[in-house]
Amino acid sequence: MYSGKTVGVIIAAAGSGTRMEQAAGLPKQFMLIDGVPMVRKTAEVFARNAYVDDICIAVNGAYAKEYEEALSGLPKIRCTAVGGKERQNSVGEALRRLAEVSKFDYVMIHDAARPYVTNAVIEESLAAALRHGAAVAAVPVKDTIRQGGITLERDNLFCIQTPQTFERRIIIEAYERACSDGYIGTDDGSLVERLGRPVAISQGDYANIKITTKEDLSMKCRVGTGYDVHRLEAGRPLILGGVRVPHDKGLLGHSDADVLVHAVMDALLGAIAAGDIGKHFSDTDPRYKGISSIKLLVYVGNLIRESGYAVTNVDATVIAEKPKISAYTDEMRANIAEALRIDIQSVSVKATTTEKLGFTGREEGIAVQAAVTVIGS
Ligand code: CTP
Ligand code: MG
Repeated sequence: MYSGKTVGVIIAAAGSGTRMEQAAGLPKQFMLIDGVPMVRKTAEVFARNAYVDDICIAVNGAYAKEYEEALSGLPKIRCTAVGGKERQNSVGEALRRLAEVSKFDYVMIHDAARPYVTNAVIEESLAAALRHGAAVAAVPVKDTIRQGGITLERDNLFCIQTPQTFERRIIIEAYERACSDGYIGTDDGSLVERLGRPVAISQGDYANIKITTKEDLSMKCRVGTGYDVHRLEAGRPLILGGVRVPHDKGLLGHSDADVLVHAVMDALLGAIAAGDIGKHFSDTDPRYKGISSIKLLVYVGNLIRESGYAVTNVDATVIAEKPKISAYTDEMRANIAEALRIDIQSVSVKATTTEKLGFTGREEGIAVQAAVTVIGS
């Protein structure tokens, strides 16, 4: 309710995202933004807004299961509508469906592809629609624009965003008119203009971008650190970075005790705040008895990708008095890089002694310190 009026929301999420050139195949509305599918992140802002009552999502019929998963548990979603060829067809169908289940007085129409919408933008839009009957969120154009060889007066130019908010009868009439005229516009406000009605501008936000191509994804960099120690014991093989290093002692542990890979895995899990290796691979689980830690690293690499991140680099320091490992570090780097499906140049393995000091100096154990960076949207 806003000023005693019921507020409906339509989220246009039925596109196929052809300009995004996604390798993964799913339309862009399912890409993870801050670890959340875009359509959910967008719908969530509206679902949690105190003024919003009823939401309808326009969906692409080919991905029913994906929408169900992405939207599960969100409040206020009263219906979905299977979208059409153009955005206007999708919104038109959602309007029809929402009108069947909601008594909305005002409807806010918003693109799922604008996940950075804020409560401030939503509330400005509602306030403007209440005053003027029709309002579109917009920001002043930053670049100078030319049309047909003539530079336009920039002060009069705006980039139109969503949400676009309308009084019920105005938007229904606008869609009916566009349909009977066979007119297709790129937004909803332009359909209202065709009725000869003014459409007000409400304060948008430069951050409220429409994610259209890869360049629109702001990549976030995260850092993770890891540290691990294993005890050295006679009669065990010494495995470091998946390489069997000749030595008279080896590391003790439930798995192959590859302390280098363990520290790297902890750093990776830390970068995406996914706990530590103890949480993912219990040292009492018989499945991991004697297992190659490189296999576990493959699992962690997959987890990073599933969380919407990519590993940019790994740097690790092996702290050991003996043996000297410099002859093996390239092979270790190659193993780690292959498990993570990244370039060997992105993986660094180096070593240091502690000048015979402490447990590593006394050759009682080997410690590894690792740092990683990951990027994602
Ligand atoms: N949209 C829709 N139905 C369509 C086309 C688009 O509901 N038939 C939605 C999109 O899901 C998006 C919003 O309208 O949230 C804005 O459209 P756009 O950014 O153009 O998305 P796509 O059409 O999916 O992308 P592209 O044009 O690159 O294929
Ligand atoms: Mg499109």
